[in-house]
Amino acid sequence: MSDWAIPQDWNSYTAGEHAVWDTLFARQSRLLKGRTTQAFLRGMDVLRLSRPGIPNFAELSERLMALTGWCVVAVPGLVPDAVFFEHLANRRFVAGRFIRTADQLDYLQEPDVFHDLFGHVPLLTDPAFADYMQTYGAGGLRAQSFGALKKLARLYWYTVEFGLIREHGMLRAYGAGIVSSHGETLFALDDPSPNRIVFDLERVMRTDYRIDDYQQSYFVIDSFEDLRHRTADADFGPLYRRLADLEDITPGAVLPQDRLLNRGTQAHTRHARLT
Ligand code: PHE
Ligand code: FE
Repeated sequence: MSDWAIPQDWNSYTAGEHAVWDTLFARQSRLLKGRTTQAFLRGMDVLRLSRPGIPNFAELSERLMALTGWCVVAVPGLVPDAVFFEHLANRRFVAGRFIRTADQLDYLQEPDVFHDLFGHVPLLTDPAFADYMQTYGAGGLRAQSFGALKKLARLYWYTVEFGLIREHGMLRAYGAGIVSSHGETLFALDDPSPNRIVFDLERVMRTDYRIDDYQQSYFVIDSFEDLRHRTADADFGPLYRRLADLEDITPGAVLPQDRLLNRGTQAHTRHARLT
């Protein structure tokens, strides 16, 4: 099986493309102080992400490899699930090489190198999170054999992409889809619209998500150690069998058994439907 990796071809980026990175980087790193987890800020620091320009994957990988044994490989865009899982299971994070244009700073449908690198890679310096990501890859291959990929994908979505964490009693963002987005960082942490629910594995795996707007519910973990313990250290086989008979939950729903940090007004979603 081909692994879909391509050269990053760092030398072919234009000055304009590097400038887009710098603009996004400046805005987001300012915003994230006090809004993301210590582990993420530390990761940015040890990877020297603040150096100007789109990072060179080879250089970045060298630093990352020394810390947690991960590296970053370039791919042309979305890759088949099995290819993605295989990379993760071998501690390779796949990243797009292209960057959005200057008139798309806020909104973008496909993940670009800013989302993939800035959003995902800092946390790969955290040992517990790094392990979580690797075992997730192995778990993906396993989920396919159970026909439970949709369930497992929801776990990725509500943790790796849109997860919140409580740190010293404060709510912080760690999901890459949040921390790489100016608008969603503010929305996920401060807006009264979304539900913020204490993470529960089974609940998350039953919950649909939206790909076209900010999330209607966010799930909040206590630590990456705890997340790893509840997922990587658990056997999902029996869970997949049980979940097969349970109904899906809509993105904005609140259940009686949810441990809510706050019940969202869902005003954002109602408003979006009217316009
Ligand atoms: N432990 C899970 C299984 O048995 C796989 C998994 C690992 C899922 C890590 C998420 C994170 O399939
Ligand atoms: Fe992502």
